Amino acid sequence: MNTKKAKSKNKQCFIVVVLLILSIVVVIKASVNLIQNDKETTSSSEQSSLSPSSTKELTHYNKHVTLTFDDGPSSAYTPVLLDALKAEQVTATFFLLGQNIEGNESLVKRINIENHTVANHTFSHPDLVYEDNTKIESEFAKTDALIYDLTGKKPEFVRTPYGSNNKEVLRIAGRPNILWNVDSMDWDLRDSKRIIDKIMHDVKDGSIILMHDIHKESVEAIPTLITLLHEEGYGIIDLHDLLGTDLKAKNYYNR
Ligand code: NI
Repeated sequence: MNTKKAKSKNKQCFIVVVLLILSIVVVIKASVNLIQNDKETTSSSEQSSLSPSSTKELTHYNKHVTLTFDDGPSSAYTPVLLDALKAEQVTATFFLLGQNIEGNESLVKRINIENHTVANHTFSHPDLVYEDNTKIESEFAKTDALIYDLTGKKPEFVRTPYGSNNKEVLRIAGRPNILWNVDSMDWDLRDSKRIIDKIMHDVKDGSIILMHDIHKESVEAIPTLITLLHEEGYGIIDLHDLLGTDLKAKNYYNR
């Protein structure tokens, strides 16, 4: 009898222990799932913050273009441009000259903080196909270093001055060289209305539009240009969103 009792007590104990272990396993599994879900939410929110374009520009329009500004920053005009872009919630890419960064450090930080893309337009704007490899390397490296110091990021894109390049220049740049298929000719026209007309005449779905934020007339054209592009059904998105991922060290003219 006693042994039988003891045996059934042992059995009960065994069942309790098994149940306990089972419930511990269930609790651990549930919390691991929770942590994993948490991680997924974090990474997906990080993913969406990788897209600098506003959702409205991406989804409300069926055609898309991107705005690019060369040769800055300019203490006189870049702040005016940034205000205009902010008012319209539009992002752009700034191909900066290293030699113009000194004295304009806070502007470079502002461009980055306001979700625009900071890119490399060399240090001193030489025609790189006439330079030796050491010079080409230093033209990119000096501007990379200045931008890295101010933004914590190495520029993902370059634009060779005058669009001029060859295989060796592209190899040394080592990343996408962003050219354009809509040239505003703003440096030559120097007239807001004519700049806008030129762009609206040439623009297509997927266009990369070239402008310069070192000219007053270019910056003054921006509010009207954005309005007209929207009226024609163009969302204005960031270069990353226009070109997508898996980019090569080659020339890009449009999407
Ligand atoms: Ni330039």
